[in-house]
Amino acid sequence: MIPETFRSAKVLIVDDEPAMVRLLEQLLEREGYTNLKATVDPREVLACYAAFQPDLILLDLRMPHVSGLQVLARLKQQTAAEPYLPVLILTADAAAETKRRALAAGASDFVTKPFDPTELLLRVRNLLEMRFLHQELRRQNEGLEAQVHERTHQLLQTEKLATMGNLLAGVAHELNSPLSVILGRVALFEAAAPDERARECAQGIGEAAERCVRIVRSFLTMARRHPPERGHVALSQVLQDAVELLAYELRVADVEVRFDLAADLPPVWADGHQLQQAAVNLIANAHQAMREAPPPRRLHLAARWDAGSRRVHIEIADTGPGIAPEIQARIFEPFFTTKRDGEGTGLGLALTRGIVEGHGGVIRLESRPGAGARFLIELPMGVAPATRDDPGALDAALPVPGKSILVVDDEQAVASMLAEALTRDGYTVDTAANGAAALRRLEVQRYDLIISDSGMPVLNGPELYREVERREPRLARRFVFLTGDILNPRIQEFLEGIDAPRLDKPFTLDSVKRVVRRVLLAQ
Ligand SMILES: Nc1ncnc2c1ncn2[C@@H]1O[C@H](COP(=O)(O)OP(=O)(O)OP(=O)(O)O)[C@@H](O)[C@H]1O
Ligand SMILES: [Mg+2]
Repeated sequence: MIPETFRSAKVLIVDDEPAMVRLLEQLLEREGYTNLKATVDPREVLACYAAFQPDLILLDLRMPHVSGLQVLARLKQQTAAEPYLPVLILTADAAAETKRRALAAGASDFVTKPFDPTELLLRVRNLLEMRFLHQELRRQNEGLEAQVHERTHQLLQTEKLATMGNLLAGVAHELNSPLSVILGRVALFEAAAPDERARECAQGIGEAAERCVRIVRSFLTMARRHPPERGHVALSQVLQDAVELLAYELRVADVEVRFDLAADLPPVWADGHQLQQAAVNLIANAHQAMREAPPPRRLHLAARWDAGSRRVHIEIADTGPGIAPEIQARIFEPFFTTKRDGEGTGLGLALTRGIVEGHGGVIRLESRPGAGARFLIELPMGVAPATRDDPGALDAALPVPGKSILVVDDEQAVASMLAEALTRDGYTVDTAANGAAALRRLEVQRYDLIISDSGMPVLNGPELYREVERREPRLARRFVFLTGDILNPRIQEFLEGIDAPRLDKPFTLDSVKRVVRRVLLAQ
């Protein structure tokens, strides 16, 4: 008996003698073939082929109206797109020439009548096996082609995102210095404002500028160019705070919030603000999606600790309409949105992914249309460095009297704003446009502290630092770096290797004052 796959193979028998047709049918049926079709009229072969789609054709050569060879020629045209359609010729004519012509016309094999049933069945089986192998090969090829297509698409997508990320990071980065100037100047103006109206005006400008700072930071985070400001973060708190921020909207939309937060979650070493922003983005999306779906609306937030991988698993799931498979691959792209103009910018998930990956984690989506969306995040626990200034530490911003400061920055607007602010606080301040100019000043004047930009022409911040370290090691310990140049990996590496505090542009005057005080009072 034949194996299961062969039983349903479709065999078409073409012979003008009904007795021969019956004989073949009986033979094949007894062997286990169940899917047989026969015709005694060779003119019907093409129609039979089209309707039946056989896996094998048994074809008599000598027939009235149309000869077997003619049938072969017509079949050849019609079956050109098939992987391999075997035709077994049954003929009483054993002449070599006949066989040659049939083979040339597309026949696969021969059996000479009267035939030995065992031989016939063996050939049928071999030919079918060949047919199935060809089909399998074609399926695999198609699968491979689809895979190659998909990978190429992914590569192009990654490339596009990388370009877009670079572009965004470049623009955001260019905005850092002017924003520092605006923030500083506004703070100076506010402090010296002639009346209440002017002060309010200054505050308004300050708040708008701070908003710009947050947007710039988001862009840099998205392009993973902004290093997270890390501390010990309790993830349960982050999730609860994020829900709290959107509590009103969730309540109005009648959304029930369920927490499932494991009690043994260790604190992670992470940027709490960024993680909260990521959670807010996901919750806002869930809220917006659920408004489109009928109640009950449920938001599920879960977090658990996986001791094996030392990762925290976070899940944010909703009962909204879910996300259609065809857009699932695109939702993390910047500016991809399905929301109306003005309702969504398409940055939420791109930013969220930037944050998660910036922390060494991964984020993925599970969603079936109609069954809600589930975002899953895995975050490594992270390790706190042994010595590092806690950026959250609150140093007083009060001036230290009688000290002199050298401000080095090639951006004149930044240098003069800092000089003015620090002079108002009672410091003696000079400015220099690059490292070389700073060294010339150091030859004629003694300073207690240097605030220096990192990337500058002629002699940059690190080069100035090394030279000062050589000449005046004590002053090198009183160095504060301004970094707008987080894009430059060499400077980044240098800053990680030394102990000097740094202020990322755009900075606030307040943070400058605190750092200046801390460094002046140290040791
Ligand atoms: N929970 C969700 N349920 C259904 N669709 C979602 C969900 N979250 C995201 N999406 C889909 O992914 C798209 C991209 O989301 P993303 O947060 O990046 O941008 P947005 O929400 O459209 O705009 P923005 O967040 O900038 O206001 C959305 O427009 C929406 O189609
Ligand atoms: Mg969103």
